[in-house]
Amino acid sequence: MRWVALFGGLFLLPDVLAVKSQDFKTCSQSGFCRRGRALSTRAKEASSSWKSPYSVDPSLVTVSPKEAIAKAAVKSSLYPDIKFSLEVRVHDDGVVRVRMDEVDGLKKRYDEAASWALVDEPTISNTVSWTAGKKDLRAVYGVKKEVELIVQYEPLKVSLLRNGKEQVVLNGQGLLHMEHFRNKEPPKEEKKEEETKPEGEVAPDAGAEQVVMQVEPEAKVENPRAWFEGDSEDAYWEESFSSWTDSKPKGPESLSIDITFPNHATVYGIPQHATNLALPTTTGDSPTFSDPYRLYNADVFEYLASSPMSLYGSIPVLHAHSADSTVGIFHAVGSETWIDIGHSSEKSTETHWISESGIMDIFLMPGPTPEAIFAQWARLVGPTPLPAQWSLGYHQCRWNYVSSDDIRTVQKRFDEDDMPVDVLWLDIEYAEEHKYFMWDKKNFPDPVKMTNDVAAVGRKMVVIIDPHLKRTSNYPAYQEATERKLLVKTKSEDEYEGWCWSGSSAWLDMFNPATWQWYIDLYKTDKRDTWSWTESTTDIHIWNDMNEPSVFNGPEITMPKDNIHHGGWEHRDIHNINGMLFSNLTSQAVMSRTDPPQRPFVLTRSFYAGSHRFGAMWTGDNLGTWEHMAVGIKMVLANGVGGFAFAGSDVGGFFGNPEPEMLVRWYQVGVFSPFFRAHAHIDTKRREPFLLDEPHKSIVRDLLRLRYSMLPIWYTAFRETSVTGLPVVRPHYVVFPKDKAGFELDDQFWLGSSGLLVKPVTEKGATEASVYIPEDQVYYDYFSNHAYRGSSKGKNVTVPAALHQLPLLLRGGSILATRERPRRSAPLMKFDPFTLRVALSKTGSARGELYLDDGVSYSYRDGNFIWREFVAEQPQKRTLRISNKDLGKAQPEKAVDSAALTKFDPTNAFAKTVKDVRVEKVVVVGLSGKPSSVKVEGSGKQLAWEYTLGVAAGEKKEGTASVLTIKDPKVLVTEDWALSIQL
Ligand SMILES: *[C@@H]1O[C@H](CO)[C@@H](O)[C@H](O)[C@H]1NC(C)=O
Ligand SMILES: *[C@@H]1O[C@H](CO)[C@@H](O)[C@H](O)[C@H]1NC(C)=O
Repeated sequence: MRWVALFGGLFLLPDVLAVKSQDFKTCSQSGFCRRGRALSTRAKEASSSWKSPYSVDPSLVTVSPKEAIAKAAVKSSLYPDIKFSLEVRVHDDGVVRVRMDEVDGLKKRYDEAASWALVDEPTISNTVSWTAGKKDLRAVYGVKKEVELIVQYEPLKVSLLRNGKEQVVLNGQGLLHMEHFRNKEPPKEEKKEEETKPEGEVAPDAGAEQVVMQVEPEAKVENPRAWFEGDSEDAYWEESFSSWTDSKPKGPESLSIDITFPNHATVYGIPQHATNLALPTTTGDSPTFSDPYRLYNADVFEYLASSPMSLYGSIPVLHAHSADSTVGIFHAVGSETWIDIGHSSEKSTETHWISESGIMDIFLMPGPTPEAIFAQWARLVGPTPLPAQWSLGYHQCRWNYVSSDDIRTVQKRFDEDDMPVDVLWLDIEYAEEHKYFMWDKKNFPDPVKMTNDVAAVGRKMVVIIDPHLKRTSNYPAYQEATERKLLVKTKSEDEYEGWCWSGSSAWLDMFNPATWQWYIDLYKTDKRDTWSWTESTTDIHIWNDMNEPSVFNGPEITMPKDNIHHGGWEHRDIHNINGMLFSNLTSQAVMSRTDPPQRPFVLTRSFYAGSHRFGAMWTGDNLGTWEHMAVGIKMVLANGVGGFAFAGSDVGGFFGNPEPEMLVRWYQVGVFSPFFRAHAHIDTKRREPFLLDEPHKSIVRDLLRLRYSMLPIWYTAFRETSVTGLPVVRPHYVVFPKDKAGFELDDQFWLGSSGLLVKPVTEKGATEASVYIPEDQVYYDYFSNHAYRGSSKGKNVTVPAALHQLPLLLRGGSILATRERPRRSAPLMKFDPFTLRVALSKTGSARGELYLDDGVSYSYRDGNFIWREFVAEQPQKRTLRISNKDLGKAQPEKAVDSAALTKFDPTNAFAKTVKDVRVEKVVVVGLSGKPSSVKVEGSGKQLAWEYTLGVAAGEKKEGTASVLTIKDPKVLVTEDWALSIQL
């Protein structure tokens, strides 16, 4: 959220609202990015004569006898006295980790990025063994020995192959450059002389000269390393941007590395950017973007709807995809990073990663499918944990609900209009002078009572806590933090002071272990030795905003890079990780308010690889425009690629006053976002859904109810994510990885494994939409049961999409479990009966799953849950059998986290609490004729049912499908049973 006020109305939006680009660097304004790109330009110009100066010393290669770890000494022919180490490990699941660092350097490179991202130290394979040859080091592994890893010595190159085909290659283009630490040379008297002397402290050896000779003989005279490093010390020791100067006390230490995918033409990931899911190019003949993608967490308000600029979070994970295979990479670096993407041929992708500081620490995830990569990624960083079930409901936010009574009124209006909502939010104005944890008592005289009033119908509150603390004597949180020295320091080791919401502020240093427990204790609702938030309740959950961190008067609206964190690390080294530590500790704090702990809800704006373990994210301060609505969908999908499944964007757009049509469409987007929150800027008009006029109000009410009826589907999808790592909302390439026609598709997506295919409308005035069906299968319109038939060649179908119509198809072969009784909040639905919707496939079968637990505690980890499987099949001609059976004991093959599943016992305590929950209705879509009998197996009694004639699933024609509605079959959701339908 930013402070800039809005002028004018909606029509002025595109003109008035635009990112202040001059606040943020382009690559050419960033010294190390400039150097990295210049290196790649020189390489391209030299073309075939270009050769990486880095090589492995074969005499210094060691392999561990029992484990798949290889270590080698690396040197650069440009600086023979500088030593580098290379370590390559193969994990037991085939993931490869490649680390390189400078050895005995003048200073130390930051090497802890991975330790914050990873859940555990990965286990090294003890079955893979290395073969060290004269020219390279090789390891072969995989079930069929299909994977080969080759570390070539000279020049250094690391390649991963599958079935002899190159999947990913490091330094194949020779752009690896780890700038070693050096001493700043005293300024020379005479400029001329400086230019003729070689740079650095060591003389080039003969080898380097040779290379120089090949490439550019003239360069030798002036600077023998110029062919590689350029001929000036460009921004080595100091750098200015706008009115700020970065002092760079450690000098140059940037890292450049090319990562090539010779057989993969499409790449996805590296969130967060506002662009297509299939990442457009930044290099080559006519690149889409002229700048590389930037990862440098920043408060980029009013951001562009199509840009490679940095946004609030960074996950340096990339998937490279082709119809044959998918591979993934993760570059564990916490400093500012720029990534160029280009294609030198139709089938390959070249990427170039330029980071400001830190070691090289790259993970190669071999795939070979998107599904396999999600599992490999989830084993490294942990899957998205199961969120509190209520947090999948609707969240109502605004900057600001201005008083306790305002909150009560908003809640009342939702109830009066029969609109469900689970969470009411408070933005910064609840806090006296923006001192978080301290209520503004004038407007919020009774915070505990207010929260209890909200909680009375099962609802929660979310309150904002930002990482900046007002520097004032009447703020205990600040006083204690400064006394205990828990705050970020300047380069001269003073407390860093910057400007944020609270005026003059200081920032908690979450890299300091001493901050952790103290911060967790702040949230305790009982009185303690240290100050704590006693005026709070366990129904209050937390929103962490501004944690990039946002500093209004700092360079690029963040902290100076030469600020100092715990351990003496510069802010530059950890910038992109900073926001993650804050939400990590907040989630621990919220969790530890109750004993036993309850699942915390924490929303974070800033994030890094691994942040998904601590809560949800949203896409920040978007604009109320159609473009932003559309790109928000793509951004949520891209975050899923990075493992951050619990994601959404502000419904309605943060800035601007969306017209009713736009707002309705945005609710349709929100209903199908994992995280569903409406939010608005302080200068916008109120736009809670109950304020809409008809017909918009009723349309939105129906949409909110649709979300709530589908909460069991969302929760089951999250459960699957929490054991497999697969995203909750899935792009086409994840579900149909071999369908080339769908590689670029990012405006329609799948909800978990439910079979629901959504294509939200993001255009004004639309009355129909085109949905791509990739297969020869029947798909049903969720609302009208109109049957569409796809084709094995792929087919676009036109579906009705007037304002009240959301393009939502259900794939034939799916069974959905929904709860159709409107309630005020999700927890009130706990014992509601289920409706099963059986959408028959073209061959007359279907299946689906339902996962349930108490929704708030961790008792599911002790086996307290139910996991049911519904199957429709035709044991004989003219018989359809629909059964409900237990899946709790089954170990999904794909499970990354199966610990919780092994303890399952069908008679567990949770299952007992829902033992009376019924299935109240079964709807079968696409049956081939009118039944002659519908019974529960083992009972002679006919059930009540209705049948409407229509298209059968097996027919090729389109039209409204037949629908059989079985009323109250009197079967229970926790019990095994089967319905038998005779035609
Ligand atoms: C962050 O979270 C993990 C659990 O995922 C925990 O092990 C770690 O200690 C936490 N703390 C910090 C400071 O990152
Ligand atoms: C479906 O529509 C898209 C977008 O108009 C088009 O690019 C694609 O070729 C179409 N696919 C088929 C199979 O007609």
